[in-house]
Parts: sequence; structure tokens; C-alpha cells
Amino acid sequence: MLSWLAPPIDTIERLDTSAQSFEPARTDYYKGKPGRQVQRLLTARKDFLAVWRAADYQQKVSGLKIFGRQVVTVNSPEAIKYVVATRHDNFERKTPQMRRALEYLLGDGLFISDGETWKNRRPLVSDIVHKNRVPAFGSIMTDTSLELVKRWETLGEGASVNALYEMAGLTAEIISRSVFGNDLGEDAANAVTEGFTSYQSLIDSINIGYFLGFDEGLPQLRTPSLRRSVKRIHQIIDRVIEDHLAGKGDDNSMVELLIRRQARNPELKLDVVALRNEAATIFMAGHETTAATLTWAWYLLSRAPWIEEAVHAEIEAVCGSNPPTVDDVPKLKWCSAVIEETLRLYPPVPILARQAKEADKVGNLEVERASLLLIVPWILHRTASLFDRPHEFRPERFMEGKRPIPYSYIPFAAGPRVCPGLQFGLTEAILCLAVIAQRFRVRVREDHKVEPVCRLTLRPRGGLPVTLHKR
Ligand code: HEM
Repeated sequence: MLSWLAPPIDTIERLDTSAQSFEPARTDYYKGKPGRQVQRLLTARKDFLAVWRAADYQQKVSGLKIFGRQVVTVNSPEAIKYVVATRHDNFERKTPQMRRALEYLLGDGLFISDGETWKNRRPLVSDIVHKNRVPAFGSIMTDTSLELVKRWETLGEGASVNALYEMAGLTAEIISRSVFGNDLGEDAANAVTEGFTSYQSLIDSINIGYFLGFDEGLPQLRTPSLRRSVKRIHQIIDRVIEDHLAGKGDDNSMVELLIRRQARNPELKLDVVALRNEAATIFMAGHETTAATLTWAWYLLSRAPWIEEAVHAEIEAVCGSNPPTVDDVPKLKWCSAVIEETLRLYPPVPILARQAKEADKVGNLEVERASLLLIVPWILHRTASLFDRPHEFRPERFMEGKRPIPYSYIPFAAGPRVCPGLQFGLTEAILCLAVIAQRFRVRVREDHKVEPVCRLTLRPRGGLPVTLHKR
């Protein structure tokens, strides 16, 4: 409503093809006058990436007050380790903003739970999406990507599509088949995906009540349209779970694994609602992030053809004309480096926010009880003392066994709350990239200005209009 009061948000992009140097689109540093908190809060409401000053891109811990609420930004590997690992118990709690925004949809699902519920459920969910299980889902990843490639082939040379929506469809299909099995049906799968998208667009991006002194934030307003999208999602997932409980579901799905685990460990007390909450959590956590990663990767490859060539040569050398499979992933070094560099420049979860249970000291800063702690992969990954030429797209930094220093590169978070789907997500992104790049060159439309924008995940504003060119 008042967003016109916030300063305009600028985007910077620099490309020098002859020097093979590409600094992809990034939100410019915040330049508003110090002390104008309302303006900064309104900017945050428009875009969380636009509130960071140049001075924030340094290794440090800093604090400020917004309407009396302490907000602490933690941007050094050592302090991040302290928050997410050493003092995990004090900082495990998601913010009221996150909890209030998602509780209606996910209930006590892992993503927003803490304390005993989180401790009991975490091993269960981790086990289901664990790296040992990833190969079992590999064929879903390859087959679904091949279906997309086949559809693109019917569109004709130079066809225009929106890469974000294409990738969202692809990863939603993959996670839907993995979580619910093959019998969800196209209409129900689309309804769930649309329900999640509309839910995200309807929830508030900032819980003003928290800044006004309510430590637990204020409940999200449940408008009729929000109620409709939640009801639809819950009905569909409940039906799948009830089918499984009646022995009618797909044996290889994650829902089936959850149910079998519950049968073996009845003390977990997973009723239909708890099962639904965890299934919905995995579905939500597991598809938008990978879709955003792939979309950003297409943008980066499109503007850096010298890297794209290396990717094509590698796929040719490793797979020949066969479609890439999960067994090829360890050999696809360039594809992996491109995905890791994409996750550095465009971490799909660009802000990890926590609420301090008790007062504490982080770095040299006294942290108050119930204050808001922000670990911001977006600024951490672009901190010059941690990454050479931090704004440039240089996948080489992840080649030949090179790794960033611990706690400086955290697209999947770190510590006990690290993303349990890390291997699933990485494998999926690498595999989808390889399958599609083997058959298509994806080009971002020349006239399109790419602008990163952050809501729950980091995406290009308006998606990514591209043209498709057969190889
Ligand atoms: C490129 C893909 C992915 C990225 C970048 C990513 C990133 C993250 C991050 C940063 C968190 C922690 C959020 C926080 O602490 O505030 C997280 C949590 C989580 N992710 Fe992922 N994720 C990806 C894919 C997946 C996939 C494929 C799955 C499941 C199959 C998944 C399941 C989860 C779950 C269940 C949590 C909650 C864990 C907990 O709170 O204990 N993620 N993810």
C-alpha cells in the first residue's frame, strides 16, 4: 500500500564476452538515508535483497532496532557456526514471520517445527529423503526431464516459453511422483502445485505484529481465497494418504515410506494430519528451490556461452547420445560446478531467519531474548573476503575439488537443521540440467531485463522468458 515511499530498486548486470567475464543481475546496494526505518521496512516488504548496504557485504555481526525489536545480521563463518551448530538449541526456532506464514498450510511440519516435535520428526523425514534413497528416485528425474524435452521438441525451433514456469512444472512433477507416487493423476497434481503457488502469493511477507512487540507474531489473516487454496491442497493429500493407509498406494513413494515407518514406530504417533503435514512440507520444500536453481542456471549459461560450451562437451564425453542418468552425475563435473555456482549467486533460500530463545552473545554482540537473527546467504556468498570476484559467474571455483571454507557457502543451510533433501536437490538439478542441455540451447530473450526478487524463495521477477533452440 505504502510501497511508493520506499526508494526505487535498481539492478546491475555486466557482460564482457571477449574477456569471458559475466557479472549477472543483482540488486544494487541499499542507499536510503540512515535512521529511516519505515522506509527500509517498506523496501524489505517489496524485496528483502534491496535492504543491504555495501557495508553489509563484510564478515561481521551487526545489530539494529526496528520499532524496539532487535534485528541481528550474522555474516561471518565463525559466528554462523556458533548460531546454527554450537548454539543450535538456542537458535533452532524459526521466526514468527515464517511460522505464522506457513502454519495454516503445514501445521507442525518439519520446516517450521522446533523442540520435541522437530527432534522426533527430523530423523523420520531425513531418512525418507536421505542420499541413500536418491538413486531410487533417479529414474523419475531422468524420465520426467525427457518428457519435458519431448514436449519442447513439438514446439518448433525458436519457440518462446517462460523458463521459470517450465522448471516449476518439471520439479513439481518430479517431487509429486516421488512423494505421492504415480497415481496422483495430472489434474490433482496441477491442483496441488497451483494451490501452493497461490498460497505463497496470498500470505504476508512481513509479520508487522512481531515488530510491534508480539514475540510470537500475529496470526496470518485467513482470507476466503487463502482458505480455498489450503482446503484444496489438504483434501488431495489426505485422499492419497487414506489410499495408502488402505493399502492402495504406490509402493515406492515417500508417503508409503512415511506410513511404513509409522507402522514400525507407533510411538511416533503420526496420524493422518501429521502425515499430511510432513508430505506437504517435503512437497513444498522440495520443488520451488530446485525450480529456481534450474531457472537461474539457464540464465547464467545463456549469457556465458563459453561455460555452456564446456557443459555441452562434458555431456557429450560422459553420455554420448544416451540420456544422462543418476549414475553419470558424479562424472558431470562442469554440470555440478554450474549448479553449485548458481546456488552461490542465487541461493533459493536467500535468508535464513531465526528467533533467539534466550539472550546470548554472538561475536561481540549481546543478543536479546526473542530477537530476530538473520543469516543471509545472499550477502555471505557475495562477501569479497570469502569469494574472489564475488559477483562474477565463475563455476571454475567449484572445479578440481576446490571447496569454499566451512560455513561460508550455505545454500542448504548448515548444522542440525541443514536441508535433508540436499543430495536429492543437487542430484535433481544436475540431472535435469544435463538432460535438457543435451538436447536444447536455452536463450534468454535479448530485450528482457532480469531482476532477482525475494519472497519465500529467490526468483527472477516475472519469471524468465526464453527461446528454445534444438542442438
Ligand atoms: C536446490 C534445492 C534445495 C535447496 C537450495 C534447499 C535449501 C534448504 C534450506 C536453506 C533449508 C533450511 C531453511 C531454514 O533453516 O530456514 C531447507 C530445509 C529443508 N529442505 Fe531443502 N532445499 C532444496 C531441496 C530440497 C528437497 C529436494 C527436499 C526434499 C525432497 C528438501 C526438503 C527440506 C526439508 C524437509 C527442510 C526442513 C528441514 C528442517 O527444518 O529440519 N529440500 N532446504
